[in-house]
Amino acid sequence: MAMVTVDGLSKTYEIAVKEAGLAGTIKHFWHRQYRSVTAVKDISFAIASGEMVGFLGANGAGKTTTLKMLTGLIYPSSGQIQVAGHIPFRRDANFLQKITLVMGQKQQLIWDLPALDSLRMNAAVYDIPDRIFKSRLGELTEMLSLEGKLTQPMRKLSLGERMKAELMAALLHQPQVLFLDEPTLGLDVNAQANVREFLRDYNQRYQATILITSHYMADITALCKRVLLIHQGGLIYDGSLDGLQNNFAPYREVRVDLAQPITDREALQKYGQIRNIDGQAVSFSVPREDLTRVVSQMLTELEVIDLSINEPAIEEIIGQVFRDGSVLALPN
Ligand SMILES: Nc1ncnc2c1ncn2[C@@H]1O[C@H](COP(=O)(O)OP(=O)(O)O)[C@@H](O)[C@H]1O
Ligand SMILES: [Mg+2]
Repeated sequence: MAMVTVDGLSKTYEIAVKEAGLAGTIKHFWHRQYRSVTAVKDISFAIASGEMVGFLGANGAGKTTTLKMLTGLIYPSSGQIQVAGHIPFRRDANFLQKITLVMGQKQQLIWDLPALDSLRMNAAVYDIPDRIFKSRLGELTEMLSLEGKLTQPMRKLSLGERMKAELMAALLHQPQVLFLDEPTLGLDVNAQANVREFLRDYNQRYQATILITSHYMADITALCKRVLLIHQGGLIYDGSLDGLQNNFAPYREVRVDLAQPITDREALQKYGQIRNIDGQAVSFSVPREDLTRVVSQMLTELEVIDLSINEPAIEEIIGQVFRDGSVLALPN
């Protein structure tokens, strides 16, 4: 059963533009000029109940905008959304009970108060009976290893502990659908791994449906079998994480073992970008479209003992997506 369905979703922001200087301010006051930015363009996808999906794209690709529409914080310019059987932008109480949105760069818990106080308020907001509150609190405290931390003011906790407390607050009402926007942002490697493990546990324990964005590839590779790739507002890939390699890697790694020691490094550069030389073995990056030509050239021109062709590591591809979107140039 689909827990999330998105059909032809778009969002265009109108941004007021002002010319520089006083004259610009006055002109702007009398006659506002607007420029529109289409942040999300006609995207469609569905997520099944219990699925954990990675939402990838470079900065400004439209991920946060999509998550805000999915949770009803902003209104779509066009298209349809259903989440857990609800239309998000109506924000009815029943819907809010079933979802949560966690934004890594935004905190909800009050800085000077112990998390426990804020959690009690949340429990009241969500109408969680005391008995259930206590049992969930116990369970989440254990899952997140937050023993002894909830009674201290938030400001005394480490960044990782604060993020875990935020997750706890976001999950107290036991939502079925989790939208996570960079939940591990800025955390050290250990804290990242803890949060990641927790999310995996949570997904398995409650069959929660999770859509997650992260700049840390390890989060995505550890948690998600399936990814959605958004580029300049458009969805350009929806499929398995493994399939990303086939579809998007613009180059292959070619490794050759040569019969002779390598004396002239420069002469080898014509075959591709040299990645590594290890004794008599050389690894090259070769653009996919040049692969056949380069390999046959190598076999005729060099004394090759062994040759292998590999796809670049998934981490590398995702990294490129985040850096500049350059791998997006040649989907088949
Ligand atoms: N409130 C807003 N008003 C105007 N433009 C916005 C607003 N929020 C985001 N944008 C623009 O929409 C595009 C997508 O942004 P966003 O959804 O935040 O991307 P991502 O989360 O993938 O980095 C960007 O060009 C961004 O500048
Ligand atoms: Mg964002």
